Amino acid sequence: MDRIRIRGGAPLNGLIPISGAKNAALPLMIASLLTEDTLELGNVPRLADISSLLRIMSNFGVDHSIAGRRPGQSSETGQTIRVTAKSIIDTCAPYELVSTMRASFWVIAPLVARFGHAKVSMPGGCAIGTRPVDLLIMALAKLGAAIEIEGGYVVATAPKGLHGAEIDFPKVTVGGTHVALMAATLAQGTTVIRNAAREPEVADLAACLIKMGAKIQGAGTSEIVVEGVSSLYGASHDVMPDRIETGTYAMAVAMTGGDLVLENTRAEYLQAALDVLGQAGAEVSSTHSGIRIRRNGNGIQAVDVTTDPFPGFPTDLQAQFMALMTRANGTSRIRETIFENRFMHVQELARLGAHIRLDGDSAYVDGVPTLKGAPVMATDLRASVSLVIAGLVAEGETTINRVYHLDRGFEALEAKLARCGAEIERVRG
Ligand code: EPZ
Repeated sequence: MDRIRIRGGAPLNGLIPISGAKNAALPLMIASLLTEDTLELGNVPRLADISSLLRIMSNFGVDHSIAGRRPGQSSETGQTIRVTAKSIIDTCAPYELVSTMRASFWVIAPLVARFGHAKVSMPGGCAIGTRPVDLLIMALAKLGAAIEIEGGYVVATAPKGLHGAEIDFPKVTVGGTHVALMAATLAQGTTVIRNAAREPEVADLAACLIKMGAKIQGAGTSEIVVEGVSSLYGASHDVMPDRIETGTYAMAVAMTGGDLVLENTRAEYLQAALDVLGQAGAEVSSTHSGIRIRRNGNGIQAVDVTTDPFPGFPTDLQAQFMALMTRANGTSRIRETIFENRFMHVQELARLGAHIRLDGDSAYVDGVPTLKGAPVMATDLRASVSLVIAGLVAEGETTINRVYHLDRGFEALEAKLARCGAEIERVRG
């Protein structure tokens, strides 16, 4: 298995192009199942999760092609994928495939909406909590699908099609909102989704669905209204920038010091995180094509943070922020309210010399003047990259094992950081 080796101490200076968002690309690809026409998606990141989803969809009989690289494009330029779900031969997503990636469970929505039948294994994914799918199932049941659970599979049937409904989510769920939104586009009548997730990835999915002929209002707010249509058609759509990748590199330069321009991204997608970075001592400004983050000389100040659904501080940046706080002046309290078990990085950060105490949903991080390199191992995607951030300032060498987690969600991570001065390399296993 590959490892990442980092020698800490170098500041980050230069420019990092931000990739298309994994968490937008995945539901967009799944939305292609709603039509027999071709959906063309640009700015799709080159990531293991994207390939895994393409594999799962190929199993249904979906055809795809990946456009060749054009002159001037590098391996970090997003790719264009054309997906055509014309002749679907199977509406079953088996355990072996779904267990590797939770988002693939969402195929249940377009399959039952368009074909009246779907059988999808209960999901797997990152080990960050129990992560049930009860609310996704509730939304489909409200829309008229009959649901049965058989041998670890959710079977959804609606032979006469779905119908519009009022869906009130008792808690904000991104996946639940994606599922309700996709299914409602082909349901007969009007659907109102209340307490909908306001994450920009939901708005990106809705923008694409509207190009495909869906009638949607209010995406990006907590109430979405969908007027069902009888069919959708093909469209072309560019995946939005990855706000979590943006925030990750912003935290990295706040940690190492230096001056980074993060290109092809937008501050409004992660304002809460940028505000916190400002309080911690980084200088943040918007440029015409992205965000500039600097930290020169001054130390890092401890700031308390609570994760929340958008527009709050994202849970997907909690581990990275904790890495930053390990070097802060003072004690920071980091509260995780989205996932009950998303502190797996704590014990690994401790191996690098961090002082962190866990108490229920909170981590108390006492900043230390130095971290020391060590071999570490991460159990999920964002936890892995928090170890990279810590490794960038740790004295000596840090080796991060189980790099496949990083490959699921960060495109060309070593190349992007190395070009900005980091001493980082991949050791092939
Ligand atoms: C999405 O997961 C993201 N994944 C996650 O990113 C992200 O951490 C999460 O949203 C929160 O922002 C993708 O977009 C592919 P949820 P999702 O449904 O949709 C509970 C990453 O690192 N819940 O919003 O699965 C759930 O347990 C990943 O890229 C139920 O109780 O998250 C959690 O506590 C990790 N029942 C909360 O809701 C349900 O049926 C929010 O989860 C569904 C969810």
